[in-house]
Amino acid sequence: MDYTYGLTMGLHTLAAVIWVGGMFFAHVILRPVLNDLEAAQRLAVWREVFPRFFVWVWLSVVTLLATGYGVLLVGYRGGFAGGPTHVDIMQLSGLVMMGLYTQLYFGPWQGFKRALASDDLAKAASYQVRMRHIVTINLILGLVTIFLGTVGSLLGT
Ligand code: HEM
Repeated sequence: MDYTYGLTMGLHTLAAVIWVGGMFFAHVILRPVLNDLEAAQRLAVWREVFPRFFVWVWLSVVTLLATGYGVLLVGYRGGFAGGPTHVDIMQLSGLVMMGLYTQLYFGPWQGFKRALASDDLAKAASYQVRMRHIVTINLILGLVTIFLGTVGSLLGT
């Protein structure tokens, strides 16, 4: 029996869980709690939280791309020639998520760090709002993608 496909998809799913689960925790659980703090304290916590999370997001992005395109390139599930629709949708939403994350990382995240380093709390807070908007979109896309990926793979559509 060839276990390669199963093991590769196991890694693919782990990466999806870490990325999307991390966004869910940050957005739905941590954010409302931090909102009760003073701006200086709240932004200082995000300054410590984000770099730790971003390491895992980069690892997840690389793993999702390597495992996702890995199985398509070797022809599993029809490969690129006539693969199932849920994989086409997953590629589209996955690439949009990765594009938005890259924009967040090199745009507002760098601005946030600079603003905080020069004690400009108002500016740092405005960059943080931009990051939150991107995370909201990515969280919704990620949840939908995991749902479609799992249902599609089980139904074999
Ligand atoms: C962007 C490039 C991506 C490619 C090329 C890709 C490719 C694939 C392929 C080929 C499968 C197997 C489908 C099947 O067995 O029918 C799959 C499954 C899956 N993908 Fe992706 N994917 C990508 C991104 C993502 C993202 C961003 C997420 C979630 C955040 C995700 C979550 C999943 C899940 C949960 C499964 C189901 C695994 C299973 O139950 O077997 N994928 N993906």
